[in-house]
Amino acid sequence: MSRLFLFLCVWLSLWSETVLGSILAIDYGADFIKASLMKPGQPFDVLLNRDSKRKIQSSVGWKKNDRLFGQDAANIAGRFPLDSFSSLKFLQAVPYESDAVSFYTSISTADVVKTERGTVGLRRSDGTEWTVEELIAMQFAYVRDLAESTAGEKVNDVIVTVPAYYTQFERDAVVDAIEIAGLRTLALINDGAAVAVNYAMTRSFPEPEYHVIYDAGASSIRATVVQFASVQSDPKSKSTTKDATQITIQGVGYDRQTGGTELDRRLRDIMVADFQKRYKRDITTDKRGMAKLWKEAGRIKAILSANTEAMATIESLAFDIDYKAKISRAEFEAASKDLKLRYAVPLLQALSNAGLRMDDINSVILTGGSSRTPMIQEAVKAAAGANKIAQNVNADEAAVLGAALHGAALSRQFKTKDIRIADIGPYDIQVSYQAEAKTPGARPRMINTLVFPAGSKTGTKKTLTFKRQDDFAVKLAYKTPPAPGFPTEFIEAEIVGVGEAIQNLTEAGATDPVIKATVMLSESGFASVRDAFVSGEFKDESITGKLKDFFGKGSSSSQPVDATTADVGTAEEEATESPSASSSAAETSATAVKPKEPIALEIEVKFPTIAPMSVKQKRAGRDKLLAVDAEESTKRKREEARNTLEGYLYKLRDLLSDESSESPFVKCSQSAERKALAEKTDETLAWLADYGDDADTIQYIDKRTALESLERPIVHRYKEIEEFPKALNNSQMWNWSARMFITEARTNLTRELETGAVGKYTKEELDELEKTLKEHETWLNEWVERQKSVKMNEDPVILSSEMRARAKVLENHLQKLVKKRVPKPPKKSTTSSTTTAKTAEEEETQTTGEASPRPAQDEHGHDEL
Ligand SMILES: *[C@@H]1O[C@H](CO)[C@@H](O)[C@H](O)[C@H]1NC(C)=O
Ligand SMILES: *[C@@H]1O[C@H](CO)[C@@H](O)[C@H](O)[C@H]1NC(C)=O
Ligand SMILES: *[C@@H]1O[C@H](CO)[C@@H](O)[C@H](O)[C@H]1NC(C)=O
Ligand SMILES: *[C@@H]1O[C@H](CO)[C@@H](O)[C@H](O)[C@H]1NC(C)=O
Repeated sequence: MSRLFLFLCVWLSLWSETVLGSILAIDYGADFIKASLMKPGQPFDVLLNRDSKRKIQSSVGWKKNDRLFGQDAANIAGRFPLDSFSSLKFLQAVPYESDAVSFYTSISTADVVKTERGTVGLRRSDGTEWTVEELIAMQFAYVRDLAESTAGEKVNDVIVTVPAYYTQFERDAVVDAIEIAGLRTLALINDGAAVAVNYAMTRSFPEPEYHVIYDAGASSIRATVVQFASVQSDPKSKSTTKDATQITIQGVGYDRQTGGTELDRRLRDIMVADFQKRYKRDITTDKRGMAKLWKEAGRIKAILSANTEAMATIESLAFDIDYKAKISRAEFEAASKDLKLRYAVPLLQALSNAGLRMDDINSVILTGGSSRTPMIQEAVKAAAGANKIAQNVNADEAAVLGAALHGAALSRQFKTKDIRIADIGPYDIQVSYQAEAKTPGARPRMINTLVFPAGSKTGTKKTLTFKRQDDFAVKLAYKTPPAPGFPTEFIEAEIVGVGEAIQNLTEAGATDPVIKATVMLSESGFASVRDAFVSGEFKDESITGKLKDFFGKGSSSSQPVDATTADVGTAEEEATESPSASSSAAETSATAVKPKEPIALEIEVKFPTIAPMSVKQKRAGRDKLLAVDAEESTKRKREEARNTLEGYLYKLRDLLSDESSESPFVKCSQSAERKALAEKTDETLAWLADYGDDADTIQYIDKRTALESLERPIVHRYKEIEEFPKALNNSQMWNWSARMFITEARTNLTRELETGAVGKYTKEELDELEKTLKEHETWLNEWVERQKSVKMNEDPVILSSEMRARAKVLENHLQKLVKKRVPKPPKKSTTSSTTTAKTAEEEETQTTGEASPRPAQDEHGHDEL
């Protein structure tokens, strides 16, 4: 019901005049990928995979040389433990030496390697290495292919959900994967905000409401405090209807380690310990066994969500042992006791960051696959009160559907319900730079300015003012490490050309030149140094200017603060939505100071710690993916060629084995032909059995062509036998029509000659048509006669196509005469001109309304009468 409603909302309000492109939304989880496609005219829903499943396992793998995705890729881990890659979300942008990698190696049998960027790659059993970004890009591309076959067109733009706690490093890794997949990033959206959009889609908020979105995923748990309020879509309008919904994120809390995967790990370790105890063998050294246990742990966890006991059963787990064990929910919960204490923490953290208490909250909305785990639900209930718990969004799909709606809104191609998001960044971000040395040789002093404290709105800019004479660098950094193992600094921006720009501005008459740099926290959560300018003050030479100058000078608050003397307070906040408001404060407070054209400075960006992939690295990744695609397409074509040949051979064998004289194949063929075809068929079948596995596409096609050339004459005869009567009918119809026409027209002509009226056709015209008719008739009589003596298993002497072509000649000639206009009778006098004109008109109407000589039963005639 609500899905249908959403569909209508989107679909009914399309802007039909623009050319629309589809938008793909991906919720990339550690366990599952959910995707949704927004296409004009298409029902808005979750994208189905090839097995019509609504979620796709986040896995990619290889079974020997065949690349697999989703469940197929996850399932082969037990046989190919080095070639099945899952849970890659844990590895996005993580440094090779980090807790995240140790955790990953404790849950996965894959072989982790260090990339040139110091991040993580994975090595297949054949030695080839893939970066995490490339492997995730493959999955994005796989989803894109699904979307394209659903949309029936190219899909380029994508919006991807990320946890709110994702750092700049991780966000970069997501964007890199998108680009390697050959897609364009429309935006990244925090998953809490995405769920909020989905929640707001079908609801209205006469009074502001506060809800916590508690998202228990595979990789982590996060809580988002959201305020929902109705607002006016256009604040300037006089109308008071609140037609838009404002979503304001008030606080977030998270725990990067206590998701569903950690529960799987606890369950797996129960089985490992049990195995160890019972069989005295170390299963942890057996990769296949460990992969099988991992899969079983996931299955057991799902069973224990609804049952108090589950039976683990794995045939030939390791060392030829068939493993069987009963695991109780109590045992599982005991092994996860420490986690239980942590489940409510993100919720409380989010509330505290928002400055709210549980009493202020309308409901706690549960979402995410792990929100079904009883232990987690109990912990949240205990913290929030059972009456606050709401399960009114789809735990698996709310985030991706919300993301798709937001993507549609951003693209401005769809007119959706007006829902705005004001999100926040969860980390303290500071700008650091070296203080200008007051005295030569003085120890350089680092200055840190908190530009975006935790909780800052995304989509905002701040301007920093520096008093410098030379080039300098500013660094963007988290105040503290954002997660264990991650560095703090992420961007170093060198501002260059300062000296020259100041000189130029000073020469133009400016005083007190300063450098203004804009730092930005984007809607997608990226911090960057956007631009830098040198600007100065110019004396306003007008009278008013001088007066204002006289009174105003000194009290102006626009005096640039020397960055070296002020740590905080130099940043002017400003919303990105209104870039024109830039420096407006300075202008109003000191009108006498008229800044002239500032000079833009160049910014050289460097990445001091974990760099995003360079253009070159991304291109290399893209090329690797394309090469795999090309290889697969070659393989697919070969398979197709082989299958087609095989199918053809079986068809021929069936045809040849039917000896009955009634079969059209036998009727239309000679025994020598059948013999040759049978020999070739047997020969090819034998070839296929002996060499078929190693042959290439061309060979399959050549073999088929050789067989076809033997079969073709027989098929041709059969088709001609079917076609001949129809073509003959057609020829006779035109013969007959032309004859009728000539007879009638000649009668008319005779009468006209007698009465002296103006005839439509001349004798010559009719003679010509008669000539064409005679030629047609003669040809037809002769060849139809000859064809009659041809046997069914002999090649026809005339082709139906030629018969039709010849009939067409006659037809065209006839049509030309029928369409002919009646010649106007010679004009008599000017006074009767109107009458004459009228007569001509009348005759014309008569002509066009004339009975058509077109044979009614001719289904092949293409005349446009
Ligand atoms: C300064 O002025 C010179 C000469 O007009 C010009 O070539 C140069 O690009 C200017 N430099 C800057 C940074 O504006
Ligand atoms: C030829 O046309 C006639 C008259 O419409 C029709 O009855 C007959 O079935 C047609 N024969 C063939 C072979 O199409
Ligand atoms: C012959 O004349 C009649 C009467 O004017 C007309 O309806 C008919 O179309 C004419 N036929 C031809 C073939 O011109
Ligand atoms: C063409 O039409 C004429 C007169 O209707 C008929 O006598 C003749 O047999 C026809 N010819 C063929 C080949 O059908």
